[in-house]
Amino acid sequence: MPKKLSLLMLPGDGIGPEIMAEARRVIDWLVSHRGLDFTVHEDHVGGAAYDVYGKPLSDDALACAKEVDAVLLGAVGGSKWDGVDYDKRPEAGLLILRKELELFANLRPAICFDALVDASSLKPELVSGLDIMIVRELTGGVYFGEPRGIETLPNGERRGVNTQVYTTSEIHRIARVAFDMAAKRDGRLISCEKANVMESGLLWREEVTKIGADYPNIKLDHMLADSCAMQLVRNPKQFDVIVTDNLFGDLLSDVAAMLTGSLGMLPSAALGAEGSGAMYEPVHGSAPDIAGQGVANPIATIMSLAMALRYTYDCADEAQLIEDAVKKVLAGGLRTADIMQPGKAKVSTAVMGDSILQALDSLNR
Ligand code: IPM
Ligand code: MG
Repeated sequence: MPKKLSLLMLPGDGIGPEIMAEARRVIDWLVSHRGLDFTVHEDHVGGAAYDVYGKPLSDDALACAKEVDAVLLGAVGGSKWDGVDYDKRPEAGLLILRKELELFANLRPAICFDALVDASSLKPELVSGLDIMIVRELTGGVYFGEPRGIETLPNGERRGVNTQVYTTSEIHRIARVAFDMAAKRDGRLISCEKANVMESGLLWREEVTKIGADYPNIKLDHMLADSCAMQLVRNPKQFDVIVTDNLFGDLLSDVAAMLTGSLGMLPSAALGAEGSGAMYEPVHGSAPDIAGQGVANPIATIMSLAMALRYTYDCADEAQLIEDAVKKVLAGGLRTADIMQPGKAKVSTAVMGDSILQALDSLNR
């Protein structure tokens, strides 16, 4: 009897539903061709949930997210909901999931596929073979720190406040994830903060250093976050694993992602403590400008499913199969609009999905 696997699909907004439909076809393929026993639930998140339930995540959806082995999320957000209060905005749905499921460790790989070396905005020799893992702290820092808000002062001036705050235990647990990750990779870890101006950054640096004592085989270095951004575009291949806080991780992961040619390619995982839930999602956003046109790139979502197979479902063979199928399709010259290159064949979301399924068929023989 195959192990029972449960998944909650939250397609979300913009291109979310289109790319999730292709991931769904890959799940169906895994069920029919690899005998995986998936139970798939589906619900709304973000603006789509706000429109239906009046809030960006229903209580049922949250309960289901806590129940299942993993959540696969498409994307949230869009200008349609710009006027909505922060706590009901599409993005809040995502933040609630991260916080409620205690998904403190965000793994964001930035890998440059051979077939896409020329799609990067950097010179091919700088990005060819690029393979960076950003470990972003996801449930703390300025995203959640109190106090926060906008107040009006007695003199009528308005004041906006957010608080950057980290405790030692929050730093320790994310540092351990990063050191463990480095141990499985090239053994090099760069920790980023702004210890030159922020006490929370100094604490981060000191506490990461302390954890490093338990990992004598990992080479730990510290870098100021602004310098890290600069080094990422100057010489990205110097990096193996980067560990950083919630806000710097948000910024640096977008920079790293773009080095690879397209945000449309990159998956991510948000993990909690051992045995707790997990959420997988593409790094890109909801891209409202191209939503509904059938041109979005489904690869990041399909690769997020592959990450789920590897990290949550213990199905490394199937994860590898999906990654190989994606490489095969790219090597065959098919491109969605975001990664289009001269001489290649531009295809729709659905045709990219079809082609990945065909590649799965042929690799599975
Ligand atoms: C990300 C996104 C989110 C973030 C938004 C949508 C809340 O930019 O996952 O990188 O800022 O964390
Ligand atoms: Mg971001």
